[in-house]
Amino acid sequence: LKIVSARDYDDMSRKAANIISAQVILKPDTVLGLATGSTPIGAYRQLIDWYKKGDVDFSQVRTYNLDEYRGLSHDDPQSYHYFMRDNFFDHINIDLNNTHVPDGANPDAEAACAEYDKMVADAGYPDLQLLGIGNNGHIGFNEPDDHFSKGTHCVDLTESTIKANSRLFEREEDVPRQAYTMGVQTIMYARMILVVANGAAKAQAVHDMCFGPVTPQCPASILQLHPNVVLVADKEALSLCE
Ligand code: F6R
Repeated sequence: LKIVSARDYDDMSRKAANIISAQVILKPDTVLGLATGSTPIGAYRQLIDWYKKGDVDFSQVRTYNLDEYRGLSHDDPQSYHYFMRDNFFDHINIDLNNTHVPDGANPDAEAACAEYDKMVADAGYPDLQLLGIGNNGHIGFNEPDDHFSKGTHCVDLTESTIKANSRLFEREEDVPRQAYTMGVQTIMYARMILVVANGAAKAQAVHDMCFGPVTPQCPASILQLHPNVVLVADKEALSLCE
């Protein structure tokens, strides 16, 4: 696991965007696994900027997002579908038919998850998977548990995640209680994993991911077993790693 130290959020974002754009330049039909949340927004902004300058071309790229709230339609402003269009897809030359997010609008959890697993498998799994990390070490919506998950599945969000995510909703009651998420095994199938983290609230999770025991109590710790992981984090997120 390679640790890249960034000065601050902007530096973290540019470094992450550099890695993603290099991947797309080297392999124009790259399969990207993507994440939502606050952390990657700066990297998406940087990629949009480089796209506008003609430096990176997304016309052949295919994307698979990690997760989606269960019960939200694609055009719900709180959905991860909407987030991805708003923060990234609508500003680059990607074919929207090549972008994929689990179908939170499908109430049949088993069917929605099985369908998504098949799509990701048929695409050959991501060449590069971008990940944020939760304060409690979650990746995707794989929360601390007594086992590692495998494929896409429906999860009950923990109180800590509901609280953390409530900043993006008007009221805490509005945060959906369930989500469809890629499993840990699917995430581990990506050929390269790029984790981004910033801020002191992530310091413990980042430390445990890199140096703690490999345990489902910190889902990100399994990344220690992956052969090609890069963590780009700012000083505050790395403050317990020195
Ligand atoms: C988002 C996701 C989550 C976030 C994590 C960190 O698709 O899967 O695991 O990456 O909750 O979120 P932020 O970046 O908002 O701190």
